[in-house]
Amino acid sequence: MKFILTGFMATGKTTVARHLARRLQWRLIECDAEISARAGKPIHQIFRESGEAHFRELERSLIAEITADRRLCPQCGRPRPAIIATGGGALVDPQNYAALRGCGLIICLTASPDVIARRVTGSVKVRPMLSHRGAPIKQRIGELMESRREAYARASLTVDTSDRTVDQVVDAILDATAKGYPTIAHPTEGI
Ligand code: S3P
Repeated sequence: MKFILTGFMATGKTTVARHLARRLQWRLIECDAEISARAGKPIHQIFRESGEAHFRELERSLIAEITADRRLCPQCGRPRPAIIATGGGALVDPQNYAALRGCGLIICLTASPDVIARRVTGSVKVRPMLSHRGAPIKQRIGELMESRREAYARASLTVDTSDRTVDQVVDAILDATAKGYPTIAHPTEGI
């Protein structure tokens, strides 16, 4: 089993993914961190130097690689479990969606535009999808969220993180999915 955490920027994907991975003792794959490590530069620098289209190619190719991994866990004999945190725009791409849906359960984290605006205060400069367009930040969040509404609605489970602590979000996910996922410790190294 793999849990795929997706959703708009600043909904808590990375933090929740880390906590979930620790709780379940599953591997953690953070797509943006992996893209950034491979490129040797932060995401916002990839956007600035090579543009969004190039970033989306790197994202698509990484997701294709991760989702094609059909190796089995030597301990339980099932597909290696993992928590995969995607970047906020990944699910919009139909190829990414199909690949991710085929390898695990897609969980979308949400938050209200006001909460998101508050959470991104201070980090707008390193969020190219919010900083590039010149529009006021709340307007930009609203527009982008609206344009992605259908993409996010395809997730199997949606958890609103606006008024929940990280532990409450993790509990909500585990409560909703507490059927048949392996809870023994698995090797956690490598992607
Ligand atoms: C993006 C979200 C970012 C990152 C990139 C594009 C988006 O990830 O992938 O800046 O299109 O929403 P986070 O959602 O983790 O901030």
